[in-house]
Amino acid sequence: MGEEAQAKNPIPRFVAFASGSGSNFESILKAIERGDLQATCVGLIASRPQIGAIDKALDRDIPVHVLPQKGSESTNMSSSLDKELTNVVESMRPDFGVLAGYQQKLPSSILDVISGPVFNIHPSLLPKFGGKGFYGIRVHEAVLEAGETESGCTVHLVTDHYDEGPILAQARLSIPANCTPKDLAAAVLRLEHTLYPITIQTTLEDYGTLQSTFATAH
Ligand code: GRF
Repeated sequence: MGEEAQAKNPIPRFVAFASGSGSNFESILKAIERGDLQATCVGLIASRPQIGAIDKALDRDIPVHVLPQKGSESTNMSSSLDKELTNVVESMRPDFGVLAGYQQKLPSSILDVISGPVFNIHPSLLPKFGGKGFYGIRVHEAVLEAGETESGCTVHLVTDHYDEGPILAQARLSIPANCTPKDLAAAVLRLEHTLYPITIQTTLEDYGTLQSTFATAH
């Protein structure tokens, strides 16, 4: 990109949120490294210490913020933690957000401090097998118990309602006979690693034409 174009459309900055191995987070970072996704990661919010996603960030000098581990604190305490997290995210000045296997509900105040879209990926063909209780291996167990012949993954925008934001893209696969939940999870995860970075890139391109600029407005 030339200097003038870059000044008009600076590389969008994103904050990532993860709770697990971070394989989707890594697929996004690798897409950036290959030049397939124009974005820069300005921070990782990890909901737990010692998860794979943290190593993937630290390997690349991406700042990591680990959430304090919740005990049985009061609602007041929990709302002050939400506030603290919101401040941390705001200080990163992100243009967009990426949930990469984040198993906590995002406080709605976070959506207010991220100027652009917040993306999520879910390992089923939403609206099927989404919402509360559908996470991890449970999604794939439910798909097989229901006798589905196909499954896949969905990239959608995050709203205040679990797994209900507008759907941006889906990738499908046929479920072979005798497929176990573990096999299905692995096959869907492979699809996720391709679908997620591509969908983020295409959405950012469209978003860029709709918004006058991606420049951080804070
Ligand atoms: C993925 O299956 C994703 O769809 C879901 O959480 C899982 C995260 O896996 N939201 P990973 O940490 O990216 O490997």
